[in-house]
Amino acid sequence: MSTMLKPLVPILAAAIVAGLVAGCGKQEPAPAPGASDAPGPRFVIGMCQCNLGEPWRAQMNADLQAAAAKHPELKLICKDAQNDTLQQLAQIEEFVSARVNLLLVSPKEAQPLTEPVAHAMEAGIPVIVLDRRLLGDKYTCFIGADNRKIGKAAGEWIAKALGGKGNVVELMGLQTSIPGQDRHSGFLSGIAGTDIKIIFSADMKWLEPDARNEMESALARYDKIDLVYAHNDDGAHGAYLAAKAAGREKQMKFVGIDALPQEGVVYIQQGLLDATFQYPTGGAEAIDTAWKILHGETVPKEIVLETRLFDRDNVAQGGAELK
Ligand code: FRU
Repeated sequence: MSTMLKPLVPILAAAIVAGLVAGCGKQEPAPAPGASDAPGPRFVIGMCQCNLGEPWRAQMNADLQAAAAKHPELKLICKDAQNDTLQQLAQIEEFVSARVNLLLVSPKEAQPLTEPVAHAMEAGIPVIVLDRRLLGDKYTCFIGADNRKIGKAAGEWIAKALGGKGNVVELMGLQTSIPGQDRHSGFLSGIAGTDIKIIFSADMKWLEPDARNEMESALARYDKIDLVYAHNDDGAHGAYLAAKAAGREKQMKFVGIDALPQEGVVYIQQGLLDATFQYPTGGAEAIDTAWKILHGETVPKEIVLETRLFDRDNVAQGGAELK
């Protein structure tokens, strides 16, 4: 543990040399010479975000920043891997070489990022994994919602909304990431025993433009589509736009996941989507947990976040808790 509690100054110096000191989004001036005795952060937290191109990830960074701002002794430095696994791998290694006190990682993919995180742990740097799981258990703590549970609840909601039968298009999140796999397997268990058919399924890699393209193919191939289940709201929105462009959006329902207040929930209020499931970012919990680890407290290996269902019936009441 003692290796984690080194004073900040040498670490900051290393970070500055490595060009890392940029906060989460905003550029910050290097400390003035001789300012090392001034009160300030004692711990540097490096955050490896897999991309910042999607609203949900921008929200996660904003949540991390807001929580970190409450602890003057913490300094949060964020890196954006721009949806590139190799870049994310390199950024983890840069933080390890700079000897940050703790790493936060929201990995793009499970398998290729498992080893770099294990290396950080071997180097004595505690790691909190956020939202997308890695393989194995070489990390300090995982924080995220239960994607299988969300997928199952989506399947059950869909089965009910379609009266137990119908044609569904499934637009999946990146299948080399665990949430994409879990939202699919959970969905299958939610529709098990019904007459719901998945007539078309594709990996849209969490990206709205890919979802829109895939939906165009589905629309070209099938005359009867009753519902689109997309693994995130960006995907559901892309599918909606494709259906609207084909003049078919009123023939089908759209279900997504994330329920950001400024995105998915608004889509429900506007009548674009029919249901979405909240997927909390875990930003506040991550900082809280980091603070505990840095102060030598024991934390659970897993922190499972709660989720809510938003549909047209309950959106005005703020959705309903998913049991
Ligand atoms: C953002 C995102 C979210 C999704 C999460 C799954 O990159 O695609 O929309 O819920 O990642 O890890």
